[in-house]
Amino acid sequence: MIVIGCSNSKTLAKKIAKNLKAEYSPLTAKHFPDGELYVKFEKNLKNKDIVLVQTLHPANEALLEIILAGYTARDLGAKKLKLVIPYLAYIRQDKRFNPGEAVSSKITGKLLNFFDEIITIDPHLHRYKSLKEVFKTKTKKLTANNLIKEYIKKNYKNPVIIGPDEESFQWAKKIAENINTEAAILEKTRYSPKNVKVKIKSYIGIKNKDIIIIDDIISTGKTILGTIKKIKEKKPKSVSVIAVHGIFTDSITYKEIEKNTKRITTTNTIPNKHAKIDVSGLIADSLSQ
Ligand code: R5P
Repeated sequence: MIVIGCSNSKTLAKKIAKNLKAEYSPLTAKHFPDGELYVKFEKNLKNKDIVLVQTLHPANEALLEIILAGYTARDLGAKKLKLVIPYLAYIRQDKRFNPGEAVSSKITGKLLNFFDEIITIDPHLHRYKSLKEVFKTKTKKLTANNLIKEYIKKNYKNPVIIGPDEESFQWAKKIAENINTEAAILEKTRYSPKNVKVKIKSYIGIKNKDIIIIDDIISTGKTILGTIKKIKEKKPKSVSVIAVHGIFTDSITYKEIEKNTKRITTTNTIPNKHAKIDVSGLIADSLSQ
């Protein structure tokens, strides 16, 4: 097996290869003077099992890189072709919210169906029940929940866990159940990508407690910031944030979150300075099965 690190995930791919004791090779990707993408493999792929690792943030060029590299790997005689997408972008576009819009998740799925298998971590499945509704090829949906649970056990004592919205149930509530701690899910309304309101609907003991807000994605950060503000009205001892995928697209919101929290932690599905939870072992285990 050769693990190939594409542009967005070289460090993670190297760690996965190390875990598997497999060969690692970075994909060469450059631009022609007119901006077109150029990709090149540096190893002989013939009859080898090839794993491409590429997280989809930033998503657009990364997607094209995967398509060029994937078809090239097939052309060069790869035996099995797997794709690891630690963060699966476009999955939140799971319906036509307004007339004329693209249902981008379905289209992305079609573009990637030529891989033999696609592995991803905590994809944002909301209206879709499973990845089968997006991809026709074999898929594996991994979760970082156990890694987050272990991280909390190591770093916190009797925290209270808060999920910002109903969708965060899959992470916040499940992790809380696993560590036997109190949890509550709040109610979020998103009026636009950057206008989010969060309400506390039921009683939760927050005063003087160490609160951990858990969500799958921090994108603009508006969801997390809205949640922090609501929680802070109830005078907690501290507020921390844990997310699987740390995107942080809005620097002003990010600074506000940083100012108002004891600690921000994410996994390394997307490289960022808070990525302290390593998913390489999780991915390596799944590749070795
Ligand atoms: C959506 O429901 C997700 O679970 C996250 O809450 C959301 O993607 C976060 O987005 P943002 O950081 O832009 O509020």
